[in-house]
Order: sequence, then structure tokens, then C-alpha cells
Amino acid sequence: MKALILSGGKGTRLRPLTYTGAKQLVPVVNKPILWYGIEAIVAAGITDIGIIISPETGQEIQVKTGDGEKFGANITYILQDHPLGLAHAVKIAQPFLGDSPFIMYLGDNLIEDSLDSFFTAFKQQNLDALILLRKVSNPSAFGVAKVDEQGRVLQLIEKPKVPPSNLALVGVYFFSNAIHQAIASIQPSARGELEITDAIQALIDFEKPVEALQLKGWWLDTGKKDDLLEANRIILDTRLEISIEGDIDKESQIIGRVKIALGSKIINSTVRGPVIIGSGCHIENCFIGPYTSIANGVTLLEADLEHSVILQGAQIKSIHQRIVDSVIGQRAKIEVTPQRPKALRFLIGDDSHIELT
Ligand code: TTP
Repeated sequence: MKALILSGGKGTRLRPLTYTGAKQLVPVVNKPILWYGIEAIVAAGITDIGIIISPETGQEIQVKTGDGEKFGANITYILQDHPLGLAHAVKIAQPFLGDSPFIMYLGDNLIEDSLDSFFTAFKQQNLDALILLRKVSNPSAFGVAKVDEQGRVLQLIEKPKVPPSNLALVGVYFFSNAIHQAIASIQPSARGELEITDAIQALIDFEKPVEALQLKGWWLDTGKKDDLLEANRIILDTRLEISIEGDIDKESQIIGRVKIALGSKIINSTVRGPVIIGSGCHIENCFIGPYTSIANGVTLLEADLEHSVILQGAQIKSIHQRIVDSVIGQRAKIEVTPQRPKALRFLIGDDSHIELT
């Protein structure tokens, strides 16, 4: 069994962060999203992992993620010149995959369930495809499955106007080598991509065994800001362990589940967990509220924030209104001088989003 993680793509929905970096490396609780997928795959006992990368962000992914040693895996990087679709990614990975069955994992997806029971079902039932489904309230935004009572997949439809069910296709799939023939039989869709839903539909049309199982836990597709904040909230809630290694002065208060890395200074501030703070941060006269992740090297002076993700090297100074539901990019600076500004002065990148509410 091998694994193929898709970590190329355009990442348009997470601009402007994706102008300068890969969306799969955006941190959730100070760890790149992609790494959660690698860890889940290794936990299921699969260590031969191929990662699809794009020319724009592939190098950054390779440098940060490495050859797999730190995960106990062996990682092969596969360059996809253009993001021509999920099935196209499988097609170009064929030399790596050979005849092996494999799990395909979208590098910006996170799921709570372990992969073990799905992997076992895939092997025991000799399936050509096992897809995972999750009930959603807005199925028209997803690939949707029509399934019979036994869990057999009858039909898959990409972003249907009239959805046949509320079961969306999760970005984790198990395939036998039969998928390659199915991909060879399909044509690009109206949006010019080779769609994996079309390839799975081709397997169904060839009367190959294709089944579906429903996820029990949460599923997040972190390709958009709100989902990224939600992933951050859930992982802080469920997986954060208390650890205080930074310097906390006597005037500061640390409440609840908080992790502060070595080399960070907290001065005259309140931190109310769950919160994670990386290393080399300077936090002074601040309130850091629940569900906040602060990466390394961040400076916060007289700031009040909660339910936010602050990326490496960002600086926030003298903002007296509470900052909420925000994602602040690497090295971004937000500063207010004096206390009651008469004017606001900006240098804002393309596709940035500012709301003064
Ligand atoms: P998507 O999120 O569907 O596509 P995208 O990354 O281009 O993002 P956006 O819609 O915001 O422009 O892709 C899911 C995952 O698959 C993601 O990790 C990127 C990856 N991917 C590839 O590796 N190759 C591809 O050709 C495509 C379409 C996606």
C-alpha cells in the first residue's frame, strides 16, 4: 500500500496567503496542515508516500517537510506542471504508484477519524475504490454521492444544482490500480480538469466494486479562511497539551490549556486558553483569548485578540479594539498610533480583506 498526497493546486480561495506560500503549509495550531495528513497516513502503517507539488510552491514544501525521516516515512516528490485536476495528479504519479493500491489524500483536508478502519474495510472487501462521505448542510458546494442501502455508490455528481443526497465526498480515497484505466477513459470537464469524481464514476460504470463509508468525526477542508479558523479551534480544543516553557512575568496570568514555547516572553498580559504560542514571541500588555494560535517570532504589544491565527513574524501594536476571527499573514504589521487615529494608512497586498466593524 502506498499513499499519494495532493499538495499542488492554485489555492485561490486562500489568497493572499497563497501568493507567497503553499496553502498546505499554513499552520493549524502551529503545525502545517499537510503534516497532519502525513501523520495520519503513517499511523495507519503506510510509509511509502508520494507528494504532488506545483512549480510555484513545491520547493517550500520539500524544504520544510523533507524526505520523510521525521515522520518515519519515505517521501517522494512528484512535480505537476499545471493543476489540471485531481485525476491528472494520479495520472502523473503512475510511475511512483506502479500497480500498488493506494490512499489518496488531499493535502488541505483534515479528518478526525483514524484511517485504520477504512483501510481494513478497503482490504477485506477487495474494493477498487472506497470513498469517504460526510453529511453536509450545503451539498451543492461539493462532490455528492448517491448511495444504496448497502453503501454501494450508485452515482457521483460534482457540485450538483439539485443534490441527490447530503453526502459530500471527503478528500480521502482508497484505490486499487483499476483507477488508472478509469482515468485513461475520461475527458477533462467543463472547467478543464480531469476530475476524480468522473474517474470513480467510470469505475462504477465498468461495474467495479466501489463503496462508501461515512466519517464519524469532523472533516475540514482548510482551503478557506473560515474553515482554517474552525480547524484551528477544533484542534486546540481536542489535542492541545499544557506546556509552559517561555518566560511569564509576575503580572501575567495564564488560564486554562495553554502552550508557550521556549524563548517567548509574556509581560503584563492575560492568556486564556486554549491558546498556543510559538518560540521567540514578545507579548506585552495584551489579552490573548481562546482559540488563538500564534506562530514563532510574533510581536504583540497592547493587543486584544481571540479566535485568530497569527503567522510567523507578524507584529500587532496598540490595537485597542478586540481582533477576532482573523488570519494575519507572515511578517504582516498592524499598528495604530496614536490611540485615537484621525486617519488609517494601509499598504495591503492583493486580495487582502479588512473589516472595520
Ligand atoms: P482544491 O482545493 O480543490 O484546489 P486548489 O488548491 O487549486 O484551490 P482553490 O480552489 O482555492 O484554487 O485542491 C485540493 C487539493 O489538491 C489541494 O491540496 C491542492 C491539490 N491539487 C493538486 O495537487 N493538483 C491539482 O491539479 C488540483 C486541482 C489540486
